[in-house]
Amino acid sequence: MCGIVGYIGPRQATPILVNGLRRLEYRGYDSAGVAVWEGGSARVVRCQGKLRGLIEKLEVEPAPGKVGIGHTRWATHGRPSDVNAHPHKVGRISVVHNGIIENHLALRHELEASGSKFSSETDTEIVAHLVSAEIEDAKDLTAAVQKALGKVIGAFAIVVMDEKNPDVLVAAKNASPLVIGLGEGENFVASDVTAILDETKEMVFIEEGEIVTITRDAVVITDLEGNPVTREAKTIRWTAAQAEKDGYRHYMAKEIHEQPRAVADTLAGRVDLEHDTVALDGNDIDVSNIKRIVMVACGTSYHSSLVGKFLIEQMSRIPVEVDMASEYRYRDPVVNDTDLVIAISQSGETADTMGAVQLAKERGAKVLAISNVLESSIPRLADYAFYTHAGPEIGVASTKAFTTQLVSLTLIAIHLGRQTGKLAPERARELLAEMVTLPNKMADLIEHGAQLQVIARRYGNSQGFLFMGRGNQYPIALEGALKLKEISYIHAEGYSAGEMKHGPIALIDENLPVVVLVPQGPLYEKTVSNLTEVRAREGKIIAIASSGDQEIGALADEVVMIPNTLPELQPILSVVPLQQLSYYVADHKGTDIDQPRNLAKSVTVE
Ligand code: G6P
Repeated sequence: MCGIVGYIGPRQATPILVNGLRRLEYRGYDSAGVAVWEGGSARVVRCQGKLRGLIEKLEVEPAPGKVGIGHTRWATHGRPSDVNAHPHKVGRISVVHNGIIENHLALRHELEASGSKFSSETDTEIVAHLVSAEIEDAKDLTAAVQKALGKVIGAFAIVVMDEKNPDVLVAAKNASPLVIGLGEGENFVASDVTAILDETKEMVFIEEGEIVTITRDAVVITDLEGNPVTREAKTIRWTAAQAEKDGYRHYMAKEIHEQPRAVADTLAGRVDLEHDTVALDGNDIDVSNIKRIVMVACGTSYHSSLVGKFLIEQMSRIPVEVDMASEYRYRDPVVNDTDLVIAISQSGETADTMGAVQLAKERGAKVLAISNVLESSIPRLADYAFYTHAGPEIGVASTKAFTTQLVSLTLIAIHLGRQTGKLAPERARELLAEMVTLPNKMADLIEHGAQLQVIARRYGNSQGFLFMGRGNQYPIALEGALKLKEISYIHAEGYSAGEMKHGPIALIDENLPVVVLVPQGPLYEKTVSNLTEVRAREGKIIAIASSGDQEIGALADEVVMIPNTLPELQPILSVVPLQQLSYYVADHKGTDIDQPRNLAKSVTVE
């Protein structure tokens, strides 16, 4: 996600803002900017690319002044560019924003119809327009922000500066983090503790639906209706390195915990429960011409493609093939203009996936890219792009990118199913309504992760692990095994439970932990019978089962319950305990979790 920093006090703001942004660099960003007030106006300096570029620009066009806001942007709406970088200034109002405005299209149309001119492609600029429209008649900036936010639906943290009222910054939060730093005759605001930890250790954490009025000497918090809120400051004892990880010991742990938010952001603005439809970011894929879908990807993204095959075939009845990109590009595949190729890549830069996309395009296929990085190479090359809104993923072992890929694939499958008419509107409605509940279910599941820590200690010294599942749980078994290998260096295999008798059953003895994915659903009984085969050979069974399952406790050594959901959506939940298991096993072994040996986050060479 993006980063915010703001300052008001007796010192020059720009060095404080730039230092804060530097502290946020680790999160990943594609552009940066500041707006600083002096002598009646706010000067905005923005630059695509690294902070270095912004600093060089500021040397040429300095931004002096003692109140200002800064931002590092990770593009979600509108490609990375100088004009799309924050702060956005409309009239006297400058705004920085993290998160996603869900109803940005509707608001933009409304504002344009009443004469507003937009200078960027971002959803953020809408907030600047809305506050600008309110400010003339409002009693103060806080009231204008309060009114403007009444129209906004979405997840956001914003900070607003008014050049006619430079003694105040107004910030607001809904679902994106926001923290106030307290100083002597000066105050700070940021999206992350890290950004302002060099300046103060006294922090006030802002909660959902709160607006903060920040002056040099005071911080006043209210709710959206203007009722006062009192909140104690906390003294932060984290080091800068701990703060970068929000207090977690590893990025992977932080990213596992970010999944409910990442899933909610990926759903935001795309689910239309009134019409049982999905908005695919304006991608008008013509299904009438598609005879087959081919999915290409590597690593974890390949596993999400395997789940995607189940989803798309089941909902749209279009046949789907899945290929590892590294194989596909060298096997002279049959592909033509009646194929839709779906390329999945978190980074959007993986060389093999890129090669597969180039080949498919040369042979006339249309390509839809699913990526987490706006305007990265693969979506740029593709005909259509759909973005997961997971925010930057830093841990090499992919977690939140995977679950948001699954969410994206489910949305795409529902869309295709509605287009082909093979998915009944009632079922689409059920699926979409259930998807909206997933962030809460996921948060619940993650909170109960301590059990996985106990299991990890119990089995973490094993020589190997087997993971198995059927149907759409089979790719999750593969992903669980991959996660464990990647970060704990323990040999692990993922297998389809039905295939076990054709080989891996020979491995089973009392020393082999077998993770069995056995949620409720049409394949439950069959998977239970595979589980009993393991049990008969004294394998140690760790079952991942649906909450309320009364039978499984008697058959397994360990049972991890996942919240109930529709079978199509179970992979999005069942992978979470596997991520946690591998994390805790690796932690128990003391390996380098965020940067495991020999692995790279993005493999841009063959
Ligand atoms: C590397 C990473 C994996 C990732 C794979 C594909 O191997 O370590 O976590 O799944 O590349 O990356 P992509 O960015 O294309 O999804």
